[in-house]
Amino acid sequence: MSKIILTGDRPTGKLHIGHYVGSLRRRVELQNSGEYDKIFIMIADAQALTDNADNPEKIRQNLIEVTLDYLAAGIDPEKCNIFVQSAIPELTELTFYYMNLVTVSRVQRNPTVKSEIQARNFEANIPVGFFCYPISQAADITLFKATTVPVGEDQKPMLEQTNEIVRRFNNIYGEIMVEPNILLPENSACLRLPGTDGKAKMSKSLGNCIYLSDSPKELKTKVNSMYTDPEHIHIEQPGHLEGNTVFTYLDAFCLDSDFEKFLPDYKNLQELKDHYTRGGLGDGTCKKFLLNILNDRLEPMRQRRKVYEQDIEGVYDILRRGTEEARKVAQETIKEVRHAMRIDYFDDKELISTQAKYFKEKNNIK
Ligand code: TRP
Repeated sequence: MSKIILTGDRPTGKLHIGHYVGSLRRRVELQNSGEYDKIFIMIADAQALTDNADNPEKIRQNLIEVTLDYLAAGIDPEKCNIFVQSAIPELTELTFYYMNLVTVSRVQRNPTVKSEIQARNFEANIPVGFFCYPISQAADITLFKATTVPVGEDQKPMLEQTNEIVRRFNNIYGEIMVEPNILLPENSACLRLPGTDGKAKMSKSLGNCIYLSDSPKELKTKVNSMYTDPEHIHIEQPGHLEGNTVFTYLDAFCLDSDFEKFLPDYKNLQELKDHYTRGGLGDGTCKKFLLNILNDRLEPMRQRRKVYEQDIEGVYDILRRGTEEARKVAQETIKEVRHAMRIDYFDDKELISTQAKYFKEKNNIK
């Protein structure tokens, strides 16, 4: 069986370093591993509209921002198929059929949907489209017969729901669809990178993001104001690592080779942590080290972004070509689906001739 990846993002804002450690970095590795027959990266604009129906301009602007972030992060359009969700009508069709295989109460139990409804104050007024997005996400994954879906842990309930739908579909209509596996980030610090203020989530609305496109100056301001250990007032005092955002980011980003390059007094992160918890190591030193590391990672992205920004028409062309290719795969699968669901009436010559014969005979008997 082919190994196929599908993953994606809602274009509701520029991508930040939480996206990088949580998914983009991995995607680039997977792309370069040569282990996958096909890699689809979908810009989920239709899903983004499920809770932004009154703000289409936001999605329109961020479609290009997210694409630039992908390309800047090292996603290679020669190896990955980047496409736009709304331009694949087969996704809507499959979603419509899948809706019959899921109950309202099952979607209500989806923990991600539950918390998103709360976060958006949707409780009494959930848009139907938003409510159905887990079903549409199952269509996203299965229309391309993805075997592997690299996403953050918040997407786990979506994958579970997808697999239930696949089992139900295959059970009724035959083995057409493929149950995907989730591929979570390896490093636990990357499961959900906190915001620079130490809050649980990096999010635009909280204003605590470091964007991939941040300039060195913006980055410096943000790192210097990061949340550390509020009880660590004097350098001599022992510091705490838990909830200390600087150390969480170091866990996510730092390599042993960074010490050689930027902080040769220590061999590795463990030594640095030991010193911090023992006392005698200031937050300033740790922040400066983190700043160096982040600049080291972001600088190649800034350079690549600059090149692509000079050819925006070319970037839209990458999207258009990727979408055309994805559409071909979508059309093949939907053809199989219609056949399996017995709704491919006009392609089914046998159906037509059998029915013709039946009605002819019926009339002859009379
Ligand atoms: N729900 C995902 C997010 O918010 C985006 C997404 C839509 C997705 N369809 C997908 C991710 C299919 C993986 C597979 O980030």
